[in-house]
Amino acid sequence: MLSQKMADRINLQINREIYSAYLYLAMAAKMNELGYTGIGKWLTVQYHEEMFHAMKFVGYLQDQSAVVTFARIEAPEFKEKDVKPLFQHVLSHEQAVSASIREIMDLAIAEKDYATQTFVQWYINEQVEEEKSAAEILQSIDLVGNAGQGLFLLNTELGKRDPSVPLDFNKI
Ligand code: FEO
Repeated sequence: MLSQKMADRINLQINREIYSAYLYLAMAAKMNELGYTGIGKWLTVQYHEEMFHAMKFVGYLQDQSAVVTFARIEAPEFKEKDVKPLFQHVLSHEQAVSASIREIMDLAIAEKDYATQTFVQWYINEQVEEEKSAAEILQSIDLVGNAGQGLFLLNTELGKRDPSVPLDFNKI
């Protein structure tokens, strides 16, 4: 059984994961609008990953007979229209998410909540991957350049990201 404090903290994290999904969906829409449909696809796959992160926490609360609560999701905030600053935003956002996940681990350790420590370890590992993906894309941008043919190539590469769920709902 979870403490109320832990249930509240995980509910907050569910909200933050859905905000992440919302942010990436908004970024995907902007990139598609600008013609970077490969980058838009990468960000759309990321949207689904974030919803999976949220749902995994929802499942955990329910497995622990804790109540899932629903708070307002803030409107996504980003101003970047250029590809490199956009991915700098993605990286800094993921770094903030990693810090948020570490807070849950810190609480689980303080409460001697061994089940949550084990559960949240998955997210600790996942955040290493999340930060790595964004950092690698930024590194690629530095190699190919944030303009012209370089961005065209990057757009093509990112468009190859394999979705785990169907992305075109009109074809279902
Ligand atoms: Fe749910 Fe991108 O971390």
